[in-house]
Amino acid sequence: MSETIKVNGSDHLMPADARVSLLDFLRHYVGLTGTKKGCDHGQCGACTVLVDGVRINSCLTLAAMHGQQEVTTIEGLGTPDAPSDLQKAFLEHDGFQCGYCTPGQICSATALLDEIRAEWPSDASDDLNAPSLSDEEIRERMSGNLCRCGAYANILAAIRQVAETGA
Ligand code: FES
Ligand code: FES
Repeated sequence: MSETIKVNGSDHLMPADARVSLLDFLRHYVGLTGTKKGCDHGQCGACTVLVDGVRINSCLTLAAMHGQQEVTTIEGLGTPDAPSDLQKAFLEHDGFQCGYCTPGQICSATALLDEIRAEWPSDASDDLNAPSLSDEEIRERMSGNLCRCGAYANILAAIRQVAETGA
């Protein structure tokens, strides 16, 4: 087992307890509290992070399983001084109210745009070889991220803006 785990480009000691979830590792061992615990059961998406660029629910996996991989959290996507295009677009479009789901939404949306660029189809894709970014496609791909405040329309607008303009 690897002794370290790379998070946002920095190596951190792997927890001695192999039962620690990736979510708890990020929040309680690394101190990155941007990743949120909503349900701890894989149902809400608040804990979404990227592992080697692919989005996963960090509550459903163990830190010990990712020693050889790159974990990226919301803190690794941008900073208050240098936000990512999606972070800026969420601000511009009011893509949140309480903000609790927002880190997971933005991590998910970041991966969504990469999936579209890679032409990965979803259940909503008309053309399985070249999925387009219809509203239905965005809703389907974001369906794992719940927002109790109901900011869905503005989240969709933010993602659409970045998908269409790249900013
Ligand atoms: Fe992981 Fe809800 S906290 S899916
Ligand atoms: Fe409150 Fe989404 S902004 S849960």
